[in-house]
Amino acid sequence: MSLDRIGWAVEVVAPQPSDQLLEIGCGHGVAVTKVCERLVDGEIVAIDRSPAMIAAAARRNDRYVAAGRATLQIADLGALDLGGRRFDKAFAMRVGLFTRGDPIREFAALARLLKPEGRLFLLHDEPSTDADEVAARLEAAVLRHRWIVEARLTHVFDGGEVACVIARPPF
Ligand SMILES: C[S@@+](CC[C@H](N)C(=O)[O-])C[C@H]1O[C@@H](n2cnc3c(N)ncnc32)[C@H](O)[C@@H]1O
Repeated sequence: MSLDRIGWAVEVVAPQPSDQLLEIGCGHGVAVTKVCERLVDGEIVAIDRSPAMIAAAARRNDRYVAAGRATLQIADLGALDLGGRRFDKAFAMRVGLFTRGDPIREFAALARLLKPEGRLFLLHDEPSTDADEVAARLEAAVLRHRWIVEARLTHVFDGGEVACVIARPPF
């Protein structure tokens, strides 16, 4: 059976039991739940600039928040300040800023937020758009900001095609 979009994303991010993860634009927090199911003493911080989305994600993940596995925060990535905290992995799904415009502040923030050996996973899909085309746009954004592309993946799910680019920060 084919994995759905978010299930595939979590397989690709492959959270390890002790990982420190950051999700950008978590929406309703569906991926947060799937990530927390794999954590033992690791943690996920999930941000969204929408208070309504963070409220929904907090409701869905209340037991993981209470257990200290998940922190949900209203924040805009470009202005995110977590006091020097650094993550093993950061990921974003369907966050349009990575496929259009010039997200210079956002890539700079991610370079501060990831450990030097950390990885960024950008996942995106668009109706009626080939996943290879979406992947090419994600890759172009990564390269424009001098990050290093490590892999480019695509997946067909029931309802569309999703692209993922995995990148390393420019240290
Ligand atoms: C289309 S939704 C995707 C939600 C979820 N990631 C998914 O794949 O179902 C995009 C989300 O990203 C959030 N978002 C967009 N730009 C953001 C930014 N700069 N910082 C934080 N959140 C952002 C929006 O508020 C929205 O909830």
